[in-house]
Formats: sequence, structure tokens, C-alpha cells
Amino acid sequence: MEEQISDNVIDGKGIAQEIEEKVKQEVKELKENYGVTPGLATILVGEHPPSQLYIKLKHWACKRTGIKSDNYKFPAETKEEEIIELLNELNSKDDVHGILVQFPLPEHINEKEIMQCIDPEKDVDGFNPVNFGNLFIGNESAGFVPCTPKGIIYALERYKVDIEGKNAVVVGHSNIVGKPAAMMLLNRNATVNVCHVYTNGLKDYTSNADILIVATGVKGLIGEEMVKQNAVVFDVGITWIDGKVYGDVKFEEVLPKVSLVSPVPGGVGPITIAVLLEHTIKATKNLD
Ligand code: GUN
Repeated sequence: MEEQISDNVIDGKGIAQEIEEKVKQEVKELKENYGVTPGLATILVGEHPPSQLYIKLKHWACKRTGIKSDNYKFPAETKEEEIIELLNELNSKDDVHGILVQFPLPEHINEKEIMQCIDPEKDVDGFNPVNFGNLFIGNESAGFVPCTPKGIIYALERYKVDIEGKNAVVVGHSNIVGKPAAMMLLNRNATVNVCHVYTNGLKDYTSNADILIVATGVKGLIGEEMVKQNAVVFDVGITWIDGKVYGDVKFEEVLPKVSLVSPVPGGVGPITIAVLLEHTIKATKNLD
């Protein structure tokens, strides 16, 4: 039986499928016309179970679309220099077009240092400071922007949500989601507030948001009383408890009040992976 999707629930899987179909076609054309197979290399350090699952999902998506992918797996105690050595090797390999280091990394590895070591042209996650810099100056198409916020922008476009002039609130100021999401909304002329764990009076901000993006990893942080009537809400939080995932938003409570809300799972997650595939195609075209 077809899964029933309510009108105001963002269909992340559907959006991801549409992107994947395009990627599949592009992979076919690159192979047929240029004899090039797009290649993605991922690096996973340690035994963080959610990261293991995300890496698995990313490789499955590559397989579905014909992208060649390899995962380099390291034990948690691996030295930073060893990862940097591998990155240098991957940066110079012609059959590797995209490189992704799964975060979080173990404490002793400096994530900011790692971000610097990925060739900006292969940085399909958009974390290298060159790519962040392009995002910051409003030149998003020059390089790569982080996949999750780009997925959110796709969803806003798909559901024809205007961004310009809207009050947007981003809760969470990580490099992976919060900061780049805020910048992408600012580039599209929203009025943006960024809230985080040190923000006083979170509700004062969230309850005024036309567009609310929540990426904190605090299960159920946002209830019905925290959102504006008819807001558009993206739940990017993921908390694992006994093998089950929970978002940052109390979904059932918020659903009747808002015009759109993304579920967990099946919301932003699948779109993020589809954008990663799209970026791998872009890197292949730029490099070959
Ligand atoms: N950890 C959580 N989300 C992401 C992501 O989009 N990319 C990487 N590399 N690590 C993550």
C-alpha cells in the first residue's frame, strides 16, 4: 500500500528520489560520452554507530546511482597525521572526484584541520574554508556548500516557500548545518537569527520564525508553543535511543499548527544524501 503523506509533511524521500533520478542519468552520460565513472571516497574514523549507518546509507545511494565509492575505515585511536596522509593521496587520485570525512571525529583529531586538507575541488561536503568563504560572499555556485542546508533550500524551492524578507531562525550553530544554513538564508535575503545553547529566551526567537530550522540534537526541544502559526519547520536533529531515532521537534504536536514540517526520519536526511551525489557529479565534471 502507498504510504499516505499528509499535505504539510515535507516529503524528503520523494525529493531525494527526484534528485537521484537526475544523478543516475548524469552518471550514465558521463560513462557513455567520456568513459568517466564518478568516484566518491569516504573516511570513517572510530565506531560511532550513527556515523556507521550514515556512511552505509551514502554508499548504498552511490551504488543505486552508479557512482563508484570506497570507504576508508580507521580505528578510533588513529593519529591525525595518518588521516591527512590519506587525504593528500586521495586529493591527487584522478579516479576520486569527491572526498568526504564523516563527522564527528574522535576528540584528538582536529576537525578544522581536516577540513583544510580536503582539496576544495573535491570537497563535496563544502567544509573547506575556501568553499565556506564562497558561501559567505554569496558565491555559492563557485564551489560546494554543505549538503544539509542545500537540501533545505531545495525543499523550500520545491514547496514554493518564499525566503526573501521572511523571518528565519536557525537553532544550532554547527559548521555542518547551523552556520551554513543561516548564510544560505541570508544570501536569499531572509532576516536571520541564529540561536544556540547560550541563547536567552529561545522561544522569543522561534515563535517569530516564518522559517525555523532546528539542528541541535536535543530530543523534543521544540514544542507547539515554540512555533509560529503557519511556520515552515525543518527538523535536522537526530537523537538515537535504543535503535530508534527522534528529532528536535515534537512532530505530532507541531504538525497541526504549521504549514510545513519535515519529519524524522524521512525528511532532511535523504535529501542530504541526494545532494552529496549531485555534488559528486559536479566535482567529476569540474575535474575531468
Ligand atoms: N555528520 C553529520 N552530518 C554530516 C555531513 O553532512 N557530512 C559529514 N561529513 N559528516 C556529517
